[in-house]
Amino acid sequence: AQRRFFVGGNWKMNGNKESLEELMSTLNTASLHEDTEVVCAAPSIYLDFARSGLDSRISVAAQNCYKVAKGAFTGEISPAMIKDCGADWVILGHSERRHVFGENDELIGQKVAHALESDLGVIACIGEKLEEREAGTTEEVIFAQTQVIAENVMDWEKVVLAYEPVWAIGTGKTATPEQAQEVHEKLRAWFRANISEEVSDSLRIIYGGSVTAANCRELASQTDVDGFLVGGASLKPEFIDIINARA
Ligand code: G3H
Repeated sequence: AQRRFFVGGNWKMNGNKESLEELMSTLNTASLHEDTEVVCAAPSIYLDFARSGLDSRISVAAQNCYKVAKGAFTGEISPAMIKDCGADWVILGHSERRHVFGENDELIGQKVAHALESDLGVIACIGEKLEEREAGTTEEVIFAQTQVIAENVMDWEKVVLAYEPVWAIGTGKTATPEQAQEVHEKLRAWFRANISEEVSDSLRIIYGGSVTAANCRELASQTDVDGFLVGGASLKPEFIDIINARA
């Protein structure tokens, strides 16, 4: 199956109007592979700013959202608001949401369901912690996380699955291309066995965790690696090299 390469930049809680303006103008003037889908995930307070500052080749994502459209939920934002700001995607289940803010699989699943019902694309994140990898439970952990996400998805067309081993996030310790491929291949097999052959063939499974300009090409050459979710390096001009990683 031809899966369109997908590169997301997750700005996390970084930048200000001045620095983001500079980053956006660097991206806007760059030559970007036309067959790569590019999405930048801005802090929610900058969604409007990001949408008006980035050119139309680049989509905008939120980094999180709540599970209902509106109401008395102080501090939260809804998929409807994200769409109203011109953004088309939301990251859900990011490891920082799971491990710093204590979001569990059930809540993440509810958010996935509501975001998709609201017609947002979802970048759904999964990944094992170091102790889980060392204990040999990587598969068990990522399949369980994937299962809960899957229970909340009717149509996979608007879903991208991001495999981000927690030990690789922001640590400079990238998974080797072999480690990434091994997990992505197992995930694809899980989809074939539990969802359908069609979804298994068409779903983009992207890798995240210390992706840089230096390591992106070899990772991108792996059969089941369909793109990246990039943190730190998405704030730098090297993000352009990562977007263009697939030859
Ligand atoms: O969402 C992005 C990931 O958490 C990766 O972050 O590239 O800074 O390791 P990183």
